Amino acid sequence: MSPARRAGTSSGVSPRLAYDLLRWFGTHRRPLPWRSARDPYRVWVSEVLLQQTRVEQARPYFERFVRRFPTVRALARASEAEVLKFWQGAGYYGRARRLRQAARVLVRDQEGRLPSTVEGLERLPGVGPYTARAVASLAFGLPVVALEANGLRVAARWTREEGLVSSAAVRSRLESRLASVLPDERAADFNEAVMELGETICTAAAPRCGICPVARHCRARRELEDPATLPRVPAARRRPHVRAAVVVLERKGRLLLQRRPSSGLLGGLWEFPGGKIEPGETPEQAARRELREELGVEPGTLSSAGIVRHGYSHFTVELHVFRAGNPGPVGPTPTRRWATPKDLERLPLPRATEKILSSLGWPAHGSVRGKR
Ligand code: ADE
Repeated sequence: MSPARRAGTSSGVSPRLAYDLLRWFGTHRRPLPWRSARDPYRVWVSEVLLQQTRVEQARPYFERFVRRFPTVRALARASEAEVLKFWQGAGYYGRARRLRQAARVLVRDQEGRLPSTVEGLERLPGVGPYTARAVASLAFGLPVVALEANGLRVAARWTREEGLVSSAAVRSRLESRLASVLPDERAADFNEAVMELGETICTAAAPRCGICPVARHCRARRELEDPATLPRVPAARRRPHVRAAVVVLERKGRLLLQRRPSSGLLGGLWEFPGGKIEPGETPEQAARRELREELGVEPGTLSSAGIVRHGYSHFTVELHVFRAGNPGPVGPTPTRRWATPKDLERLPLPRATEKILSSLGWPAHGSVRGKR
């Protein structure tokens, strides 16, 4: 540690903070499944999962995922559909697709081993600056600071940062302030302790400063009436609302499903034919138009089977569900199939499609959520 770092004053962060934080973490660390052995593969999977998923929600996904894909090689060998199936319900499916792509790169180029440098990790598909630093410190013990959403909030409060933490300049400022007090040999514990504090005490809306082990080092606590006003957040944008019509075609105990394009929202997942209801259209007109455009068929009668609503993280949907009589011949293609109940257990499905299936009385379809 340099003398400036030892003094810890240029950053405004007291070196005592790291000491108090680590002492607290020593007795309060939660026994999370990715913490048991610092296996780089498990750390990497957990960090990707935790990018957009809360710890308690991520836990069952993580356990099931690493049981089925225990190594980089096992993940690289699996089909994309199977990997997505194990991610079903966790959302942000691009994470799972890129995790598998990266595993294939590692098997091809590095004998299935993860690189042990930040730069090497950042070259992998889906590994951004945070994930690279998290894996480098948690799995390989490198002395780097890794701040995810919780850590950024905590660091912004400690140092009374008034800028937006979504800005790259602010993030790197916060990282270097914390780097000035990072105990090199305990980078993994330090980073996890910062996250843990953010998840359990220094929460976004209601920080519990009364029980915070580092409250005395926190500028927001000392200088502001309400520490929760930091970090500043831009006004939330409303989630767009999508109205769509979908059609359940059933033939001999099978349902017609289509695969969404790999890139984009819910990429690679399987759903019923259908699409957006255009302005001026009734749901039924939209359903007929979509069947014509997507399948080239004119259904006979369409009967309404209710409305299913679901809120994804980026948009909300209202699906007007129809059942159709026999539409005539519709053959399978690589992105279209007549799925049996067994297929439904294997194919990755969006949550709204699961809800439609349940509303029609079809059995559970394999997501962690469905199993609980
Ligand atoms: N959030 C991101 N990574 C985490 C970790 N390793 N432990 C707890 N929460 C986290």
